[in-house]
Amino acid sequence: MIEPWKPVCINDETVHAHGGQILKEKEYWYFTGEDRRGTARVSIYRSSNFKIWEKIYTMSLHCEIDTRFPDRDTRLITEKGACNIERPKIIKCDRTGMYIMWMHFEENGDYHAARTAVAYSRSIEGPYIYTGSFRPLGYMSRDLNVFKDTDGQMYMISATDDNSTLNLYRMTEDGLGIENKIASLFAGQYREAPVLFKNKGIYYLLTSGCTGWKPNQGKYSSSLSLESGWNNLFPFADETTYNSQSSCVFEKDGQLFYLGDRWGGDKSKYFSSTYVIIPCSARNGEFRLEV
Ligand code: GAL
Repeated sequence: MIEPWKPVCINDETVHAHGGQILKEKEYWYFTGEDRRGTARVSIYRSSNFKIWEKIYTMSLHCEIDTRFPDRDTRLITEKGACNIERPKIIKCDRTGMYIMWMHFEENGDYHAARTAVAYSRSIEGPYIYTGSFRPLGYMSRDLNVFKDTDGQMYMISATDDNSTLNLYRMTEDGLGIENKIASLFAGQYREAPVLFKNKGIYYLLTSGCTGWKPNQGKYSSSLSLESGWNNLFPFADETTYNSQSSCVFEKDGQLFYLGDRWGGDKSKYFSSTYVIIPCSARNGEFRLEV
């Protein structure tokens, strides 16, 4: 039984950073994720000791809009209803020094929009400027994640074709858009919640199955190249991934950790969702949670 991780927050009773990401920037840890309370979309928490967290920014429908992208929809909320932002992930563009946030965008409480949305800021702590939502190269795009390679090139991976396939895209140099698609992975296998990372020259891709808010068997693949060579999917953890769904892998004090969402169980219990953090290892192409 893996106990949930319950971050203590000094200015917010419960941390809302679901579908989240943990990353270190200078002297702080940042924990970013979905915040669905009211008109909030995304919240960012920070900590200097990984114990006490402070909410430092919330992106809401009132955020500043950049209208320079004519092919993007800049509404953060529609006339018909609120949008949902899921799985926000921040990546730093080495070339411009900007922090870019990629998000899964939906509207009207369903999953038909299947779009991605991008915002950016000079500081990781915001405020973020919203550029709008769009379908990358016209493809449906749901669960997503971002990845920066050791050469600084940035990538986005997202579930497409009604979640049946994962598309891997190279971002533009400024990280605000998509340059091209470099791979379509696990077509027809319905994998989502992708987490892409590199360790000792090998790329690893964690995914979940496609069962909504119910946990399922996490599986991984590894490859020496992003474009090709991904091996078959192998299970990691138990059949419910210890009651979690993959969200992020991060390194702390030389140890890799898996961050997963422990969803409340269904849509009505979304707000009781918590998180798990489990040490993990990625060696010679094999990934496992160290429990
Ligand atoms: C999950 C997905 C979540 C959310 C949920 C909705 O499988 O990973 O981010 O979209 O489905 O049912």
